[in-house]
Amino acid sequence: MENFEFMSPTCFVFGRDVEQQVGAKLAERGARRVLLHFGGQSAERSGLLDRIRVSLEAAGVGFVELGGVRPNPEIELVREGVALAKAEGVDWILAVGGGSVIDSAKAIANGACIEDDVWELFETKRPNPQTLPIAVVLTIPAAGSEASKNTVISNDALGRKTGYANEAHRPKLAFMNPELTYTLPPFQTAAGIVDMFSHLLERFFDDYGAVPVTDNLNLSLMKTVRAEAPRVLADPENYDARANLMWAGMLCHQGIAGLGRHEDWASHALEHELSALRPSITHGAGLAVMFPAWMEYVCADAPARFAFYGREVFGLCPTGDMLADALSAVDETRAFFASLGMPTTLEELGVFEEDIERMIPTLRANKGECFGRLKRLSLDDARAIYRLAL
Ligand code: NZQ
Ligand code: ZN
Repeated sequence: MENFEFMSPTCFVFGRDVEQQVGAKLAERGARRVLLHFGGQSAERSGLLDRIRVSLEAAGVGFVELGGVRPNPEIELVREGVALAKAEGVDWILAVGGGSVIDSAKAIANGACIEDDVWELFETKRPNPQTLPIAVVLTIPAAGSEASKNTVISNDALGRKTGYANEAHRPKLAFMNPELTYTLPPFQTAAGIVDMFSHLLERFFDDYGAVPVTDNLNLSLMKTVRAEAPRVLADPENYDARANLMWAGMLCHQGIAGLGRHEDWASHALEHELSALRPSITHGAGLAVMFPAWMEYVCADAPARFAFYGREVFGLCPTGDMLADALSAVDETRAFFASLGMPTTLEELGVFEEDIERMIPTLRANKGECFGRLKRLSLDDARAIYRLAL
């Protein structure tokens, strides 16, 4: 097992109605003036934001609001949030939404504590030990940002989408009420499922041998996500299925499912270029196309690992031909994503052959000449994987 350092400082408040405790829990932790940060219309429409405002007022916690975070959040609104947080003397950020809102909140939490423009952190990846503390009310299980160390932000002017990792901006408090996810459109539910499943795949497939304690935990999460997925799609108000997925989504990406391994992350790198090229592309939908293409391209390099995954997660019977078994596992993965209504080709996402070259310079800017761990990929490999996905 590789050495690791792991910290998970988030306090999780999980279950029905937990958003009503937001004000009290923030007051307990000394919050005086909060930046209430949210997305488009969903949280306003459902009445969630009003319940949170009431909870903050009842606890005597002041707040200023900044809504309008779009999926694939953009740096301009982050800059606005930084200026607002500084001008208003905000001491906590409360993100109400999914990965996009939480990532925007994390970027603001960093920017509010530095003099430079916040994009500089994404550009240089330099450490920033001081951030504002973050609380989250999660409305979609997917990105796992409610406990992760990452934020991913787009910069439309530069045509970039890139991440910034910082232990200091892991949320301190996460309120997770599965009932809040009943209003998710099936497409967002499905994209979230693909994203959380992909966070497990990125950790399971790398250039390291078996790490049973981590691998078995990871496989058990994969099986859970796979079993609960059809239940929520068939019955969106099934509390237990929603609850299992919400908790799984956090476990898939908070870090525990990859400890002691190297992890790969090539498929995420390939997907982020799709969302940078077309910000309308949903991250999970992009992964549903790119992950199976990546698997198909690399599985001959580690057929036993892929065959093992196929047996454990999809119950495939060994045929005696390891490579054939590995390819069957890839097919099952693609079929699982398709069964959720996710796309299987780049064309369905509106990305075509002529777009591939447009993504290479930004991929190079984000990842250099070589990336991934299970197989070190060159930019020519990246081109080939995009072509496979067409
Ligand atoms: O904006 P509103 O109106 O709220 O609508 C949102 C949005 O359109 C809607 N939605 C959310 N909760 C809802 C709801 N609609 C109805 N009912 C609800 N309860 O869903 C849409 C998608 O929301 P978004 O926050 O974008 O989804 P997700 O959580 O999938 O986040 C995606 C972002 O996270 C990044 C992705 O790249 C992408 O930018 N990631 C962040 C990671 C991290 N920070 O660790 C890791 C991931 O790999 C990922 O890259
Ligand atoms: Zn992801």
